[in-house]
Amino acid sequence: MSKPKVFLTRRILPKGLSLVEEFCAAEIWQDELPPPHDEILARVRGMEGLLCLLTDRIDTEIMDAAGPGLRVISSCSVGVDNVDLAAANARRIPVGNTPGVLTDATADLAFALLLAAARRVVEGDRFVKNGNWKTWGLDLMLGADLRGATLGIIGFGRIGRAVAQRASGFSMNIIFTDPHPAEPEAGVEAKQVDLDTLLMQSDFISLHCPLTAETQGLINEAAIDKMKPTAVLVNTSRGPVMDLAALYKALRTKRIFAAALDVTQPEPLPPDNPLLTLENCIVVPHIASASRQTREKMSLMSAQNLIAGLKGEQLPNCVNPEVYRK
Ligand code: DGY
Repeated sequence: MSKPKVFLTRRILPKGLSLVEEFCAAEIWQDELPPPHDEILARVRGMEGLLCLLTDRIDTEIMDAAGPGLRVISSCSVGVDNVDLAAANARRIPVGNTPGVLTDATADLAFALLLAAARRVVEGDRFVKNGNWKTWGLDLMLGADLRGATLGIIGFGRIGRAVAQRASGFSMNIIFTDPHPAEPEAGVEAKQVDLDTLLMQSDFISLHCPLTAETQGLINEAAIDKMKPTAVLVNTSRGPVMDLAALYKALRTKRIFAAALDVTQPEPLPPDNPLLTLENCIVVPHIASASRQTREKMSLMSAQNLIAGLKGEQLPNCVNPEVYRK
């Protein structure tokens, strides 16, 4: 029997890839850079499965180009704002994602960024490497303490709660907002507040909400205006949640103390973006889930979702289970 035809918009890591190649006739985009939209359109024709990354916009046009044989879309990511879910629902195509396995890696990076911004680690490294270190100075590179400080978590899902767990170990006070909050992990104290209270009371703010119509541009000039002048802002969610022009203005004028971004809008951030000239802004290239173990698990899960969809089975991790309802 011939194997089902699938298109992978990038090579996934070995265990996932072997599984895909065992079950499918896979066409794989080999470049480091994502395939342009036109390339996906051309290559997806007649495909029964599509495995994509968060860099690939999977819209109506792509689904139409694939044709009625497309049975599954599997995104090797937890966030699926790159996939037009309404279009997938209309065609009853299940969409898979990779929740759970990247929770700890993402929370670890959020916390690493929080500490690095609070204690000016990246700036200090640059200072030394540029030959500026002349002596031990009583007021050299003063930063902020974590103990007793208030951490505001926007989005209290799996990752937000895992960040709260870490913050609890650092004796921080934790407050959060979420339209559908879950209980904090056992032993972690966290209080739900409204967004304005969180913005006004937090010494540190960490974003863990999905990108939706409600969260797009959530951290804009008006939101930043409510923050403490000592606030540290960390974003490991999605770039468009934050207005980067407003953030630049706030950091340049020291309206807030510092920011650390794993995600930006656009990605990659062009090298001439003014944020990159600021000492009080750390930017890393969307690496929150980038531990070897986590990316291996994400690759495997995305392969398993793809194969389940091709077999006509319910995806182990499906973001639109409504497509299975009669
Ligand atoms: C995801 O999977 O959505 C993350 O942003 C990857 O780091």
